[in-house]
Amino acid sequence: MKWIALLIAAVISIVSIYYTNYLVNKLKEREIKSIEVFASSMEYTIENNVADQLPSVIREIIINNDQIPLIYVNSKDEIENWRNIKIDEKWSEEKKQEVLKKELESMKEAYEPKHVFDRDEQTGEILDFWFIYYKNSFLLTQLTYYPIIQLIIIGVFGLIVYLIFSYSKTAEQNRVWVGLAKETAHQLGTPISSLMAWVEYFKEDPGVKNKGVVEELDKDIKKLQLITERFSNIGSVPVLKEEKLEEIINNVVEYLKPRISTKVSIDVITISSDVRANLNAPLFEWVLENLCKNAVDAMGGIGSIRIKLLHGSDHRVFIDITDTGKGIAKSKIKHVFNPGFTTKQRGWGLGLTLAKRIIETYHKGKIFVKSSEENEGTTFRIVLSS
Ligand SMILES: Nc1ncnc2c1ncn2[C@@H]1O[C@H](COP(=O)(O)OP(=O)(O)OP(=O)(O)O)[C@@H](O)[C@H]1O
Ligand SMILES: [Mg+2]
Repeated sequence: MKWIALLIAAVISIVSIYYTNYLVNKLKEREIKSIEVFASSMEYTIENNVADQLPSVIREIIINNDQIPLIYVNSKDEIENWRNIKIDEKWSEEKKQEVLKKELESMKEAYEPKHVFDRDEQTGEILDFWFIYYKNSFLLTQLTYYPIIQLIIIGVFGLIVYLIFSYSKTAEQNRVWVGLAKETAHQLGTPISSLMAWVEYFKEDPGVKNKGVVEELDKDIKKLQLITERFSNIGSVPVLKEEKLEEIINNVVEYLKPRISTKVSIDVITISSDVRANLNAPLFEWVLENLCKNAVDAMGGIGSIRIKLLHGSDHRVFIDITDTGKGIAKSKIKHVFNPGFTTKQRGWGLGLTLAKRIIETYHKGKIFVKSSEENEGTTFRIVLSS
């Protein structure tokens, strides 16, 4: 859709430029013709010495040129007369000459001058001559610039429309995200508090006490609380705190290890244990969890995940998550963050969308596919500021 609109805009611009160009050329031809007519009528006047009794047609031609600026110069290279040049009668003689000289220079660059000869009536010998210098009329000059001005206006207009549209689209998406997250957190709140009360109750019940059930229930409730916290964080402006990254990453790894195949190893590599970044822990953990789950899926249950922590320049921290999975096809890399993009039968295609939103909107960081080779593995990079 975007491309079609762009194509139409391009076609309109090209047609418009082409057409104006055609008009400009036509008009130019006409102006040159009319200068020629002007020159020959002057010649006629001079040759026949009939300035006062000019045929009315010629007089019309000479007087009616009220568009094309011209200057005639005599054989001694002196300016003898001019037309359609803005000269104020109140100006001093020097000023007039200065303006005329300047005009003459620009005319010399524009067109070759037309010649007017005064010939002897009998012999045809040239007695005297003049040059008529001229340039495009103001109208024609304006018309030459018209397509450029038109294009700039169309461009600016298009840009404004595009910005308004994309802004209102993002604003709408934001409202959906925030609204849905808030609602989910809110809805989960009630059953969780009730479950917590039940656990307290069971702790005292001799029937279930000491059978390990309550502990398991407790863990599940903690997880539910974490989920609620994530949703409520995404539904509000999350607070960023300086955190030790290694600790956070280890938390996630400890949480994930018992839940994934034993044939998948997860290693954390850091250059120093004191790498810090400003982040919201529940949300950042969510991102790592999503990336690791994707990695596990891509490896079909066997392989290794490496999480590497690096210092970048200007207070930046890199977190690289590398897997030995099936990789992402080159053509698909640019789509993986799009909502709904999935290659899995039971996928929602939301994991990376959420990750991108958390990193870029809430942490003002970056997340992207750093490299990916089919059948070899993929590295995702997160950039945060410390
Ligand atoms: N580490 C990876 N290796 C290979 N492909 C990947 C990897 N991570 C993501 N992908 C590709 O990107 C797609 C989108 O990932 P995303 O996490 O957004 O959605 P999903 O995992 O398919 O579904 P879910 O919403 O359940 O997370 C995946 O379906 C997969 O094709
Ligand atoms: Mg996923």
